[in-house]
Amino acid sequence: MSDSPTGPVPSSTSSSVPSSTSSSAPSSAPSSSAAAAALPRRVAVTGAHGKLGRAVVTHLRGIGLDVLAIDRDPAGDPRDVRGEFVVADLTDYGQVVEAFGGGVDEHAAVDAVVHLAAIPAPGMTTNAATFANNSAATYNVFAAVRALGITTLVWASSETVLGLPFDTPPPYAPVDEEYAPRPESTYSLNKALEEEMAGHFCRWQPELVAVGLRFSNVMDVEDYAQFPSFDADPQLRRWNLWGYIDARDGAQAVEKALAYDVPGAEVFVIANADTVMSRSSASLMAEVYPDVPVTRELGEHETLLGIDKARQVLGYEPQHSWRDHVG
Ligand SMILES: NC(=O)c1ccc[n+]([C@@H]2O[C@H](COP(=O)([O-])OP(=O)(O)OC[C@H]3O[C@@H](n4cnc5c(N)ncnc54)[C@H](O)[C@@H]3O)[C@@H](O)[C@H]2O)c1
Repeated sequence: MSDSPTGPVPSSTSSSVPSSTSSSAPSSAPSSSAAAAALPRRVAVTGAHGKLGRAVVTHLRGIGLDVLAIDRDPAGDPRDVRGEFVVADLTDYGQVVEAFGGGVDEHAAVDAVVHLAAIPAPGMTTNAATFANNSAATYNVFAAVRALGITTLVWASSETVLGLPFDTPPPYAPVDEEYAPRPESTYSLNKALEEEMAGHFCRWQPELVAVGLRFSNVMDVEDYAQFPSFDADPQLRRWNLWGYIDARDGAQAVEKALAYDVPGAEVFVIANADTVMSRSSASLMAEVYPDVPVTRELGEHETLLGIDKARQVLGYEPQHSWRDHVG
């Protein structure tokens, strides 16, 4: 499933995903023994059966973490999510508290939460249903974290808060975390409210470390076959400034966020280092957004979804590119 308003990405819950993408190897080793030592031991991952959740569960288990996978959908792809799993609907607060707090038989309490569960894009269902599910789920997760005294929370925000689909051009490029959220859909409005809510939960629980990851459009390896077709029309993917995130690099960002230990709420743009296009990033901006200031000299294919903060603060460094998979 996709964060995309145009929805060109195959369904995340497809059962026809080629096995080439089902490697159980983690996307990267822990960046250092210090970072590994700082990681929590037992982590709940919500939305575990989703496109990003599968990659995150696989990665965290691959680096030795004890992962409690949670999803309301029991029929997820079993390749990556073999292991401990609980069916729970996060819109029910009691189920969230039980699931995180050791209240479900045979499942111990967790010390950290990675919250990915959501309806993951505008337009998949009605606006009100999207808001009702996503806002209730996230409120319940944040509130349960507080009630249980958990101090490590990582959750999925979205690139959409940067102003996607950029019918109003971005203030500058590469975009970054320095300007206020500009939600243009109900889905994105909810993500912006989650970011605001995280700040208040941190005020109420000063020891809480709450990291919001503004993921770009999530891609699995099999999605890359379509990328060369994007080149013909620069308008086709301008809605997110031609960005993407490889699910394995998304999982790496989650690992890095779990190791981050500065109390308070922070958000980070999480994208790959390059664009989806073969053309240069500078030429795309010049053609499609000629009036938008470009704030630095761009590398040939440099992402226009700035990841400098994630690199500098979290030590995030994308390991993958679609260019490695499409000949
Ligand atoms: N896919 C993208 O391009 C993209 C981009 C930016 C941000 N995000 C965000 O990343 C997260 C993961 O996205 P994804 O692409 O893996 O989505 P997905 O739809 O593949 O997975 C989401 C999972 O959440 C579960 N879920 C939804 N509501 C639930 C509830 N009330 N209780 C329990 N489980 C529930 C679903 O069953 C599903 O398995 C979401 O928060 C999404 O908003 C996704």
